[in-house]
Amino acid sequence: MRAQGVALVTGASRGIGRAIALDLARAGFDVVATMRDPAAGADLPGLAGDATGSLRVERLDVTDPDTIRMPDGLRVLVNNAGTEGEYLPVEHQPVEAYREMFEVNVIGCVRTMQAAIPVMRVGGGGVICNVTSSSYLAAQPLYAAYRASKAALGAVGESLRAEVAGMGIRVVEIMPGPVDTDMLRGSDRMPEAARFLEYAALAQRVWDGRKGVEDQITPAADAAARVRQAILDDDAPLRNGCDPLADQLLDAWRTSSDEALMRQFIPELD
Ligand SMILES: NC(=O)c1ccc[n+]([C@@H]2O[C@H](COP(=O)([O-])OP(=O)(O)OC[C@H]3O[C@@H](n4cnc5c(N)ncnc54)[C@H](OP(=O)(O)O)[C@@H]3O)[C@@H](O)[C@H]2O)c1
Repeated sequence: MRAQGVALVTGASRGIGRAIALDLARAGFDVVATMRDPAAGADLPGLAGDATGSLRVERLDVTDPDTIRMPDGLRVLVNNAGTEGEYLPVEHQPVEAYREMFEVNVIGCVRTMQAAIPVMRVGGGGVICNVTSSSYLAAQPLYAAYRASKAALGAVGESLRAEVAGMGIRVVEIMPGPVDTDMLRGSDRMPEAARFLEYAALAQRVWDGRKGVEDQITPAADAAARVRQAILDDDAPLRNGCDPLADQLLDAWRTSSDEALMRQFIPELD
């Protein structure tokens, strides 16, 4: 597709979403940068000032259906808003934490997709881009609830791709590895699982493994450029990385056994 027309990005207040909103405006799209608190994006139109396209900020909370409105002429929807929680083993993760993550990472994205599809269909097509996580490709312990929510969004996108292809709507999934944002910085901590005796040693190994990716962190602007490429490339596959580690993981996932993948990417389990 050509970089023109309206693109809506969720969770554009900070992190990857903010970088995607700026990147798409600079590439030529008329971007609606949506966020829970529009004050957080007050500087965005200025930052996109000399862009080929344009940028405006609107309020959208993916858990509040009353705030989900798709602009006329929508050609691109980027479902970027996401959240995570405590790093706990399946045995101890409260089911409420699953509900909270699924509400944002799955149900919220389904809501925006349901609102976007009729608008795109009337306009002759478009691209729906869902930001999941490469973490669900390998057996990362203590991240089950978050990984489950991202895998669920991946499955929704996979079915949707087959449902709307005939309408000229293309679905792409972006599976980030470590990208320099608040979420990634917040993950550099002892997992909460450490408070359970049976999981304390595992928690330490998982934290050590997390420290091991410090030299492989990708700037959000670089990740955003990769997201744009997947949106513009009519031949892009369903699943795409947006950084070197995600590319490596995706390649290994396509060619390895589950066991080999776990040993290669979760060495702290040995
Ligand atoms: N950074 C990474 O290494 C990494 C790796 C894998 C996947 N991801 C995924 O990439 C996406 C962006 O992550 P990030 O690293 O940029 O995270 P981040 O820095 O924590 O930013 C998350 C964004 O989501 C927004 N958000 C949360 N709940 C929302 C809601 N109910 N409605 C609308 N927006 C909401 C936040 O808004 P507020 O400012 O209002 O809180 C913020 O804009 C997420 O889906 C994340 O799971 C990131």
